[in-house]
Amino acid sequence: MEIIVLPSAEEVAVRAAGIVGEALASATTGDARTSANLGLATGSSPLGLYRELTRARRSGEVDLTRVHGFALDEYVGLPAGHPQSYREVLTKEVCGPLTLDPANLHVPDGSGSTLDELVTAAAAYDDSIRQLGGIDVQILGIGSNGHIGFNEPGSALTSRTRVKRLSDRTRLDNARFFGEPEEVPTHCVTQGLGTILEARALVLVATGPGKAAAVAAAVEGPLTASCPASVLQWHARATVVVDEDAATGLRNREYYAEAAAGLRD
Ligand code: F6R
Repeated sequence: MEIIVLPSAEEVAVRAAGIVGEALASATTGDARTSANLGLATGSSPLGLYRELTRARRSGEVDLTRVHGFALDEYVGLPAGHPQSYREVLTKEVCGPLTLDPANLHVPDGSGSTLDELVTAAAAYDDSIRQLGGIDVQILGIGSNGHIGFNEPGSALTSRTRVKRLSDRTRLDNARFFGEPEEVPTHCVTQGLGTILEARALVLVATGPGKAAAVAAAVEGPLTASCPASVLQWHARATVVVDEDAATGLRNREYYAEAAAGLRD
């Protein structure tokens, strides 16, 4: 795992976008594949990264026209077109600015009206990721309780895309996107931790003091279902890009800076 601590959220966005851009470019280099697969997170954390990727696209540094986007998760029960459904959010915040064809945006289906329908759709989403070649680089944020995707504490480390109940903490954290806290759905469909681990590269971004405890637990705590983001420790190509505020709980800051500067392997 590579840990990169930077002075500001802007620098986090620039560095993380650079890593994502390179991973997408190398995904199709010398390969029979003509399009790369990008795993998309929603929420506040990746917005700067998306802005920076948009800037890079406009200046011709990256070409995203043939990229397929795969959402990490979707709420259950929001009507089609609801402004907070992740399909809507990603269509607006990612497809438009990055010129991703909306036909190439894949989002778990949270519209089922029975558990059976939701379970079947979740498994189909999981299969579709594999069938379309797997995710080349997965963008991740981290919840204040250590979740990635909506894998709440206690999620199996090998879990697949499935229906999950959202924790009260997550619903409270996400109430800012809805009118009232009670309007935040109680359930979601999320890629599992096992699904996320199959992406060829992971890039987690976190900024601000509210993420410091979760980042410290994920990076330097034990590998445990109690902190789902700690599964990044199990991935051979995981990069964690954080600002100073989100890094305050890290004990090994000095080593990470040395390693990032190339002084050690
Ligand atoms: C959203 C997602 C979540 C968020 C996390 C942090 O697709 O997968 O894991 O990344 O809840 O949210 P923000 O960035 O809004 O603090």
